[in-house]
Amino acid sequence: MLNLAELSAVMSVYRSVRVGMVLGLGLVWRTVRQCEGRAGLRAVSGSAAVQGLRAGEHSWLCGSTAAVLHTVQGRVEVRQNFITEEEENALLQELEPGLKKKRYEFDHWDDAIHGYRETERAQWGSVCTGLLSRVRGVAFPEGSPLLGPVHVLDLDKAGYIKPHVDSVKFCGSTIAGLSLLSDSVMRLVLEDNSAEWVDLLLSRRSLYILRDEARFKFTHEILKDADSYFLGQRVPRQRRISVICRNLPV
Ligand code: OGA
Ligand code: MN
Repeated sequence: MLNLAELSAVMSVYRSVRVGMVLGLGLVWRTVRQCEGRAGLRAVSGSAAVQGLRAGEHSWLCGSTAAVLHTVQGRVEVRQNFITEEEENALLQELEPGLKKKRYEFDHWDDAIHGYRETERAQWGSVCTGLLSRVRGVAFPEGSPLLGPVHVLDLDKAGYIKPHVDSVKFCGSTIAGLSLLSDSVMRLVLEDNSAEWVDLLLSRRSLYILRDEARFKFTHEILKDADSYFLGQRVPRQRRISVICRNLPV
């Protein structure tokens, strides 16, 4: 298992080779997304969600078949209104000054993400520290070693995240993300059979959690505004900031 210093060292090698983005503590999130080389393999039409099978009690989950919903059961979770408006504002206040200094990236041909800027943060004020420990408390297995810095991804209104799997070398079993400023649709597509998919409605201020098979066997993506539908219902995509916690591989 890598500690943070080793992880930074590994990633800075990638950075110099790939001319990635240099980030504060040296983690290169592009590497996290791209090591597996799965970005942009397929595009699933947004209208596929119209035939979606709704998952019983969950208003935020639908999928192509009962079988795929069974596969992700307990391995995907969306907690609506996980943070309050005040907490969202506290996060934005801490993040906006740094983000505003960066430009949105639109033109990296090898990128899993189109129209984004990103950063990471290890130290937070008291309100954010509190809500992040709530995130960690509900998302990660007890005692699981966590990736220290929190990853912050700011998607322009025209931005989107193409299908990819986060690197298994650098990230562990669980990915937990808060969505700020906009609703959005996250699509998971089974790597072995791209006809099988599930859509998650990520409402503004919700927390999503992807675990185990849902994280390893499916690609995940955030739909672009033009394709942003959940069960046939339009979900307008505004600028969206996500605050993502990950654990380390064991
Ligand atoms: C990523 C990613 C999802 C999100 O950065 O690898 O998948 O919610 N982000 O922004
Ligand atoms: Mn990802």
